[in-house]
Amino acid sequence: MLVLGLESSCDETGVALYDTDAGLLAHHLHTQMAMHAEYGGVVPELASRDHIRRILPLTEACLREAGKTRADIDAIAFTEGPGLAGALLTAAAVANGMGVALGKPVIGVHHLEGHLLSPLLADPAPAFPFVALLVSGGHTQLMAVRGVGDYELLGETLDDAAGEAFDKTAKLLGLGYPGGPALSKLADQGDANRFTLPRPMLHSGDLDFSFAGLKTAVLTLTRKHEPLDEPTRADICAAFQAALVEVLSKKCLAALKQTGLNQLVVAGGVGANRQLREALDTLAARRRFKVYYPPLALCTDNGAMIAFAGAQRLQHLRQAGPFAVRPRWDLASLAKA
Ligand code: KG4
Ligand code: ZN
Repeated sequence: MLVLGLESSCDETGVALYDTDAGLLAHHLHTQMAMHAEYGGVVPELASRDHIRRILPLTEACLREAGKTRADIDAIAFTEGPGLAGALLTAAAVANGMGVALGKPVIGVHHLEGHLLSPLLADPAPAFPFVALLVSGGHTQLMAVRGVGDYELLGETLDDAAGEAFDKTAKLLGLGYPGGPALSKLADQGDANRFTLPRPMLHSGDLDFSFAGLKTAVLTLTRKHEPLDEPTRADICAAFQAALVEVLSKKCLAALKQTGLNQLVVAGGVGANRQLREALDTLAARRRFKVYYPPLALCTDNGAMIAFAGAQRLQHLRQAGPFAVRPRWDLASLAKA
């Protein structure tokens, strides 16, 4: 089965072709980062308009690369939510238009389910069940994943998401938008031991997170050292990253213990963070569990994860939905859907 995947929930237009026998045949992406950078964040109206401009040329590029035509497509998957309503409508409209024109099923995919299942596109891929750490710009969640659509929320952030904490901290350190990768790069040059920042909720006894205080601690530290010289800025980045990575990795370990599972899957944009990967790899070797990541290019938003999740749902759950978008959509509700 050849599935076309369309993603337009935020500031990236992603298109991919996934074949259930041959795997990922093509994926193309356009990031709007440069367009939004001058505003310091995503401007929803600009995002929607840009998705409209990009989505069909990207689809054509995928078909060309895969050596396929529209007639070869068996099903179309699109991100139904959560995300920006206007942005979501682009992929929804294209998917449903193509579905009618080609007479093929159309399936709405939960964006986070896309991220959650994306490590299954890696080689080697984990088998169910596993614990998933979902760390994106909008979410930080630990889930027990026992199968497609079988997700149990173990814990989540009470305030800022991990990616949001990276981005807000980067912004207050003058590193631009989106700041996660920039902060992480600067942290590599810094000394993580010069400053010690709090590890919020490390010993809370549950699997929830809170990162808003960490950002405030950085603000206080920054004010104390103003004007910031470059080495100090790098040291603060390193201290921030070390605190966040320690909390994330220790809570992953606690989630594995609580569920009795021995496989961890990391998904979402922050999963691209090198320090986080190193910390988890070290922990995995020491505590004898296995850790899986999506290929680096598929950590942040992309069409491949949507095509893949759509294919899984069509194969395992045979669920094709009506034309809708859901700007707000709780992942845990999928089990009941
Ligand atoms: O999953 P994603 O592409 O979009 C959402 O669904 O939110 O994640 C984007 C987030 C941003 O907050 C970005 O700063 C963060 O992932 N991010 C990183 C890195 N690469 C992306 N954070 C830390 N280190 C990175 N290398
Ligand atoms: Zn995402």
